[in-house]
Amino acid sequence: VGSEMCIRDSYPVDVKCVNLTKQKTRTQNSILIILFLIMKNALMGLALFAAMPVFAQQKATINVHPEQGKEIISKHIYGQFAEHLGTCIYGGLWVGEDSKIPNTQGYRNDVLQALKDLKVPVLRWPGGCFADEYHWMDGIGPKENRPRMVNNNWGGTVEDNSFGTHEFLNLCELIGCEPYISGNVGSGSVEEMAKWVEYMTSEQGSPMAKLRKENGREKPWKVKFFGVGNESWGCGGSMRPEYYADLYRRYSTYCRNYDGNHLFKIASGASDYDYNWTEVLMKNVGHRMAGLSLHYYTVTGWSGSKGSATEFTNDDYYWTMGKCLEIEPVLKKHIAIMDKYDPKKQIGLMVDEWGTWWDEEPGTVRGHLYQQNTLRDAFVASLTLDVFHKYTDRIKMTNIAQIANVLQSMILTKEDKMVLTPTYHVFEMYKVHQDATYLPLELNCERKVVRDDRIVPMVSATASRDANGFIHISLSNVDLQESQEIELNLGEVKAKSVTGRILTANNIGDYNSFEKPSVVAPKEFTGAKVNKGSLKVTLPAKSIVVLEVK
Ligand code: AHR
Repeated sequence: VGSEMCIRDSYPVDVKCVNLTKQKTRTQNSILIILFLIMKNALMGLALFAAMPVFAQQKATINVHPEQGKEIISKHIYGQFAEHLGTCIYGGLWVGEDSKIPNTQGYRNDVLQALKDLKVPVLRWPGGCFADEYHWMDGIGPKENRPRMVNNNWGGTVEDNSFGTHEFLNLCELIGCEPYISGNVGSGSVEEMAKWVEYMTSEQGSPMAKLRKENGREKPWKVKFFGVGNESWGCGGSMRPEYYADLYRRYSTYCRNYDGNHLFKIASGASDYDYNWTEVLMKNVGHRMAGLSLHYYTVTGWSGSKGSATEFTNDDYYWTMGKCLEIEPVLKKHIAIMDKYDPKKQIGLMVDEWGTWWDEEPGTVRGHLYQQNTLRDAFVASLTLDVFHKYTDRIKMTNIAQIANVLQSMILTKEDKMVLTPTYHVFEMYKVHQDATYLPLELNCERKVVRDDRIVPMVSATASRDANGFIHISLSNVDLQESQEIELNLGEVKAKSVTGRILTANNIGDYNSFEKPSVVAPKEFTGAKVNKGSLKVTLPAKSIVVLEVK
């Protein structure tokens, strides 16, 4: 009688019935619940089925083809971005020489060391949107004479210009990276941009070189990467692509190569799915640009809440993986347009802003884009870097947004404390791929259909061979529950030994805080074994591993 009642009643009552009929076994109860679900609501049952994995297996096969390796993974794919935004520069990188926080010439010592360890290859500055309101002459000379300005894009904060051209270029020298300067097209003049290039790079004799020397820097800096505007379709001037293409031609004409310095000029590119922008730029600018940028954020949308960085469901997590992986078809379409105008692939695609964009942390300043960084963000980093490697013949630089305290940062700081984020650890583990030879691979694994009908493979992988002949393979197991048994073949290469490191945590929402800075940190990985020259790898659920094969 009890069970009949249960079938007719709704689900919570059914649970109550089960409790009443104590003699029933758990199995019987489960069968009743399933029967009830099917009979009571067939649609609900169907929905449940649709949410289940498409394939049940948790085995994967990877075939790496070392003999096909020919492209170099540009180290600049591991580029960073520092904007005058929130506490990225002030507090994050720079505290000033008089600060109590241990520093070298005003740069935080802890951050300097962390960035050196990361092997940062290139750093983009001063924006972002800030770049098109920035007037570089306000940021040189004695600090007490530097004018203030309002940072209109980012919370209306007053900028005192104490961190300017010298401070940025000296930082790049200290951490040993290339500078990537973003010039002001939106609200700056051609003359202003031309003089900036002269100031930074001309050796002697020129008026700007003289001014630089008066400000304490004798030798010019080496500046290779120069962006002519940023997001010129939006915060950089709200332009149409045809108009910006003409402006690019005009501004870039006066960005000269001084005294052996050769500029790699980058045009402001499209956002996400705006293929027309790429088409018009390729058609109207063509080889006058050495690179064309693209911005792609893993974001739920541009209006309203973007979701919490730390409080999310499993469904949200899988959605995030789908959205981040959508960069691949987006890249393919932009690349196809570039290939049409530039079949020899001489113009680089520069993804100079990418990463996650969540709601700002509660209690932080609106407009400062300060967000925490969990193991979920680490997956966005590893999956996206795996994709970038695949298109390394076209992608010559990328810059994750941003280096400290903004969006998907490497580093978070609070007064004298610093934490390395899970994303930092991915970049640090992956640095072995910088300037290594990309090794194509095939991957067979389980896939899940996630929200918005995107299909997400449960394993992501990439491989490269470094200058010493060592092969590095990065593996991400996206699945939150299941481990993966991976058979990894290396073609003509017979593995002798394998070592590795793993990044994982108890929960996908785990993060490093100032109180607990090492919740998500790399550890030694012992789950890979050599088996007759191939590898067998057991990849735990929600883990990212980098292997070194000798
Ligand atoms: O990275 C934050 C902002 O995102 C940049 O300033 C802008 O270029 C983009 O819209």
